[in-house]
Amino acid sequence: MPRLLVVDDEPNMRRILGAILQSDGHEVVEAAGVVEARRAFAASPFDLVVTDQRMPDGDGLSLLASCREVDPTVPVVLVTAYATVELAVDAMRQGAFDVVPKPFVPEAVRAVVNRACERTELLRENERLRGQVRRLTGSEELVGGSPEMARLRGLIARVAPTNATVLISGETGTGKELVARAIHAASARAGRAFVAVNCAGFPETLLESELFGHERGAFTGADRPRQGVFEAAHLGTLFLDEAGEMPLPLQAKLLRVLMNGEVVRVGSTAPRHVDVRIIAATNRDLEQRVRDGLFREDLYYRLAVVPIAVPPLRSRRSDLGSLVDHFLALVARDLKAAPRAVSPEVKAKLLAYDFPGNIRELRNLIERAAILAVGPRIEAEDMPLTAAGAAPGASGPGQEAAGVERLVAGLPDPLDLPSTMETVEAALIRRALTAAGGVQAEAARRLGVSRSHLAYKLKGRARGTPPR
Ligand SMILES: Nc1ncnc2c1ncn2[C@@H]1O[C@H](COP(=O)(O)OP(=O)(O)OP(=O)(O)O)[C@@H](O)[C@H]1O
Ligand SMILES: [Mg+2]
Repeated sequence: MPRLLVVDDEPNMRRILGAILQSDGHEVVEAAGVVEARRAFAASPFDLVVTDQRMPDGDGLSLLASCREVDPTVPVVLVTAYATVELAVDAMRQGAFDVVPKPFVPEAVRAVVNRACERTELLRENERLRGQVRRLTGSEELVGGSPEMARLRGLIARVAPTNATVLISGETGTGKELVARAIHAASARAGRAFVAVNCAGFPETLLESELFGHERGAFTGADRPRQGVFEAAHLGTLFLDEAGEMPLPLQAKLLRVLMNGEVVRVGSTAPRHVDVRIIAATNRDLEQRVRDGLFREDLYYRLAVVPIAVPPLRSRRSDLGSLVDHFLALVARDLKAAPRAVSPEVKAKLLAYDFPGNIRELRNLIERAAILAVGPRIEAEDMPLTAAGAAPGASGPGQEAAGVERLVAGLPDPLDLPSTMETVEAALIRRALTAAGGVQAEAARRLGVSRSHLAYKLKGRARGTPPR
């Protein structure tokens, strides 16, 4: 049911407008002036604002501006006894949806409001269809016929229609984000936003503002107010990626938001109501982190209402064939060429490999090989699966240099420097992760980089909000 904010200093006018719109099935909240309306709008978003122009504490156009700052898509209808051409032009230029002159017949208001609601509906329908197209073109499809995948699909179908918080766990690259998107797409929130935030990608203070937003002047550099991802995901789904990395003080704040459904921007005291479905993901053993005192137990139980474990690729090798075909088809579509095949030798190599980087690693391997292969078929030499084990036992700068020389001598000619560097980097990261038993902090230490740097690298092609 659309939620409307009706603003007029005249109590009678508010009552009449309210009655007309309520009889059309809208939920109506009334405000007696600009200040009250601003407060109501900041506290919880509306689908439409119907406002008088001249009021003792301000005018409708300035209210329009402040509403748009919170929600740039909200339609605002001006109802005014001073409907001059100048005002109408001004209002439309500033983004008003329409101007209705007073006195009005109920039909005039109804028509405009219904048109505005229809437009909003269309925008959301569009968003939903875009999601469907993404799925139909295969880029968001969950591929695999193994019993593990069937179980996963069953879980997704059962949990999607509910508002339950989901905790997705699994090694890196297993498809956790894809599962989260699938849940959103199959839920009643499908037409609304799906917002992803990487909790490992920001230092603590920035993460707080990323999550909850900030007011102007809240900290150095905050030269304008900004909404956080909770507000951006209002009525939709918020995906908290790498939730296990969240610093303890923020965990406490997150818990509060989950308990009362209100966020407070950094530098503000005014709570804002948000209706957000939370899906969290982690590639850590969160229960172990709880035992180690690094993750709040109460937050863990809030998040893990429905736990979903995504199995590693090596424990469902029967999916390899269909995944390989799927990624070959995706590359072929991008290249506008016929999909390549893989040689039996490559198939055997893939089946024997244990994929520490899981499906993301497989996807990268296939894409690279399909682009680099010269013949119609991908051959073993197009698929550098053994690079991960290069130069065993190397230690110390001398040996390291010698190891690198040997590695380089073994590379085919000509080669592409950026993609080769990427392969080498990926291999080194993989080796460190394996040696560290999958613990990112330890792998980062072994590689001599910060944990957030490693987390960023692991994301590969960045998506959503890149770290600032
Ligand atoms: N079952 C699947 N079918 C097709 N593609 C998949 C499947 N699972 C994962 N992928 C693809 O593999 C890549 C990695 O998936 P995703 O980003 O969801 O992994 P993740 O578990 O979130 O990884 P990380 O822990 O590193 O964040 C993506 O390109 C995704 O499209
Ligand atoms: Mg992910």
